[in-house]
Amino acid sequence: MREMEKPTVTFALSKGRLAEQTFDLLERMGVDCTDARNPGRRLVLEDKAGAVRFILVKPSDVPTYVDHGVADLGVVGKDTLMEAGRPLYEVLDLGFGRCRLCIAGYPGQVNATVGHATFRVATKYPNIARSYYAAKGRAIEIIELHGSVELGPVIGLSDVILDIVESGSTLRANGLTVLEDVCDVSARLVCNRVSLKTKRDRIRELIDGLERQVSLAAQT
Ligand code: PRP
Repeated sequence: MREMEKPTVTFALSKGRLAEQTFDLLERMGVDCTDARNPGRRLVLEDKAGAVRFILVKPSDVPTYVDHGVADLGVVGKDTLMEAGRPLYEVLDLGFGRCRLCIAGYPGQVNATVGHATFRVATKYPNIARSYYAAKGRAIEIIELHGSVELGPVIGLSDVILDIVESGSTLRANGLTVLEDVCDVSARLVCNRVSLKTKRDRIRELIDGLERQVSLAAQT
């Protein structure tokens, strides 16, 4: 069967480390990612056989493209996936992009509020923060930020932050520490629910191939 007769499967990827590590896995499966690795300003790239198409999007938009079915598969951090709350199939833990979602602040700040009535949490993840504290039965005020979240406690905007911690160096450099662990994070392969039915064989083949490469990578 010629490659062109298979349905084209579209991957939504965010530029950067998650995409590069996804290309590493796909290349080991024989998928040509040369163009996708060097996109320039292009946002849609295909392998030479036309069997796999890549669209390059912002990380927080990966779940949106997959949910709408314009991408069949996507690679996204568990943190972004939880925050998006979209009804996607999470089919594989890819094992890279590892970090933790944590509550962080000044030591001893886990319960206290500073100068305001309600406990304030600064975060890029308002939905995760809401459900985390709702599960604890704790009323909070969420302050949504889009970067440099560590500034929250440092400058007195919030009592704590909910954010990802990788090396811990940003926290340390700002005199902050992890107060509570929320969950572990790593890159996940997600799949559109309809695509899994309509392109079943081709998608199964890609998922199985990626799963094999992930377990091989874990053994080295
Ligand atoms: C992320 C995150 C932390 C930092 C954690 O920010 O929000 O600030 O990385 O990494 P570390 O534990 O290795 O220091 P990012 O670099 O994405 O920038 P941002 O603050 O602009 O979101």
